[in-house]
Amino acid sequence: MIRYTDAVGTVRAEQLRGFFVGWPRAASPEQHLAVLRGSHRAVVAVDDGTDRVVGFVNMISDGVLTAYIPWLEVLPEYQGRGIGTELMRRILEAADHLYSVDLLCEAPLQPYYERFGMLPVPGMSRLRRSALDGLPASDGGSAPG
Ligand SMILES: CC(C)(COP(=O)(O)OP(=O)(O)OC[C@H]1O[C@@H](n2cnc3c(N)ncnc32)[C@H](O)[C@@H]1OP(=O)(O)O)[C@@H](O)C(=O)NCCC(=O)NCCS
Repeated sequence: MIRYTDAVGTVRAEQLRGFFVGWPRAASPEQHLAVLRGSHRAVVAVDDGTDRVVGFVNMISDGVLTAYIPWLEVLPEYQGRGIGTELMRRILEAADHLYSVDLLCEAPLQPYYERFGMLPVPGMSRLRRSALDGLPASDGGSAPG
């Protein structure tokens, strides 16, 4: 059974293997855990059968008006089962009082986020690929972003 929780203080690093698929360098499970714990809010999906985190979403926010969703990822073997939808539903529900919730995504994913009432908007971003240099090498694949 898939269980959802925002109690990320209970998550252990060893439950966080296999994420950042396709990134040339991936955050370690310890860094990933620090990302979750350092967020305004995060929700994880846990497969109780394997005790593994199989999906996560996090939000950073000023807590008053605005929030940003940096990460949403579901492990490949768990995709297409509604887990991403439930993670988004839960993180957005807790942000109903905010003026704006933003995220960045590739164009093909825009229809996915439109399902949650989000609208495409122009944006700007500064990416420092050198920030990935200290991270462990990943399984390979293309470099997003
Ligand atoms: C995007 C992602 C989080 C969706 O999670 P999920 O649990 O598979 O999603 P759900 O089962 O709730 O919904 C599946 C729907 O998302 C759509 N979808 C998933 N990935 C997509 C993509 N890259 N482009 C367009 N649509 C996509 C599927 O086509 C499916 O549509 P359908 O309901 O009409 O069949 C997951 O595919 C993922 O982790 N992808 C890799 C990381 C990523 O791209 N994260 C988003 C960064 S902005």
